[in-house]
Amino acid sequence: MRIITQADCTGVLAEWPEHMRRAFELARSVLSCAPNPRVGCVIVRDGRRTGEGFHAGAGREHAEIVALAADPEGGAGATVFVTLEPCSHEGRTGACVRALIDAGVKHVVIAGLDPNPQVSGVEQLEAAGIEVFRLEEFAGAAIELNKGFVRRMCQQRPFVRCKLAMSLDGRTALADGRSKWITDPQARADAQLLRAGSCAIVTGINTILADDPSLNARTEALAGGERELAEKRKSVAGQPLRVILDSKLQTPADAKTLSLDGAVKIFSLRDRASAAGFPDNVEVIVSPARQARVDLEFVLNCLATKFQCNEILVEAGPVLGGALVAAGLVDELVIYVGARLLGSDARPLLEFAGPDSLTQGDALEFVDVSVIGSGLRIIARPKAG
Ligand SMILES: NC(=O)c1ccc[n+]([C@@H]2O[C@H](COP(=O)([O-])OP(=O)(O)OC[C@H]3O[C@@H](n4cnc5c(N)ncnc54)[C@H](OP(=O)(O)O)[C@@H]3O)[C@@H](O)[C@H]2O)c1
Repeated sequence: MRIITQADCTGVLAEWPEHMRRAFELARSVLSCAPNPRVGCVIVRDGRRTGEGFHAGAGREHAEIVALAADPEGGAGATVFVTLEPCSHEGRTGACVRALIDAGVKHVVIAGLDPNPQVSGVEQLEAAGIEVFRLEEFAGAAIELNKGFVRRMCQQRPFVRCKLAMSLDGRTALADGRSKWITDPQARADAQLLRAGSCAIVTGINTILADDPSLNARTEALAGGERELAEKRKSVAGQPLRVILDSKLQTPADAKTLSLDGAVKIFSLRDRASAAGFPDNVEVIVSPARQARVDLEFVLNCLATKFQCNEILVEAGPVLGGALVAAGLVDELVIYVGARLLGSDARPLLEFAGPDSLTQGDALEFVDVSVIGSGLRIIARPKAG
């Protein structure tokens, strides 16, 4: 495989970065393909794009197959741009590598290598005499596009996004537990897009007891393209899993979230026999105990390996959120800031023992700060390295 940079893209290669950008645009036309990665593909012949495709979700055709079918010459002699190394294993659909070889493509240009140990696409393409290139500048975008899939393949846990709503003075609920509503309807609609793109929505028992939330993905509040994206995902994958961390199995059998369409997983130190009346869509998973509570690493490993979750959204209060942060298990914080003040008796954003000094503790970086409705949305991640 030849690694080339944008600086190498001159003469007949001048348009290569543009073709790859288009492949990324196609990949992003779905919110998630979990458990599969999102992939876009473009077929180029004589400098012109003659076929395009993207993967729409598990069980659907892969991007390369859609693009080959769209090309009038079925890919023969063409250069194929694909955001991820083509798959080489027969899953629910045939291997893309086989299809590319059979089509007689000339070159394959990829952005990222597949972290799935079952995939050896580049090797097989090269063994069949197809020249493979990797466009170096797109490697980071390839990981970002499929950060949950990469996390699951490499670390057997999902990408963990923790969403919180807070007042301008950093409070998430009144002292008596009321937190409806700190932010405005636009912020809550925006959060629905996060739910729609997640494989699971995770919360703690106290939020269930205090708020009796639905925790499902609702598209009605979204508008235009976002609504379309969320509905497309829902039509392919249904509702995200709903997950409750509940060591003592206190979830009421009539909790609203248990009665809604889709599966609910309750992680507990007790088994189902300790509770009565849960509907059939509810599974109780017995977790090992860590400090007398559900073991967070066990939960994440289980969500990745048993339920194939690529990205999960934690919508809990300060206790569970704080525990995840303290354990270094949060990959991204999405914080909606409402333009109000709740005062010092109100609950903090996260409850955990902070560092002893400002030179200690994990530094974060702001990935995005946007105005949403009358408030702000802040996206922050742990600083790399
Ligand atoms: N502003 C917001 O964004 C927002 C979002 C959600 C909720 N809220 C508010 O937050 C309040 C509830 O927050 P909360 O912090 O008390 O509860 P929480 O974070 O929703 O749930 C915490 C509970 O989860 C259980 N849990 C199980 N395993 C755990 C583990 N390993 N680590 C930590 N917790 C574990 C614990 O109870 P057991 O040990 O009994 O299992 C723990 O008390 C409510 O008032 C709600 O309205 C605000």
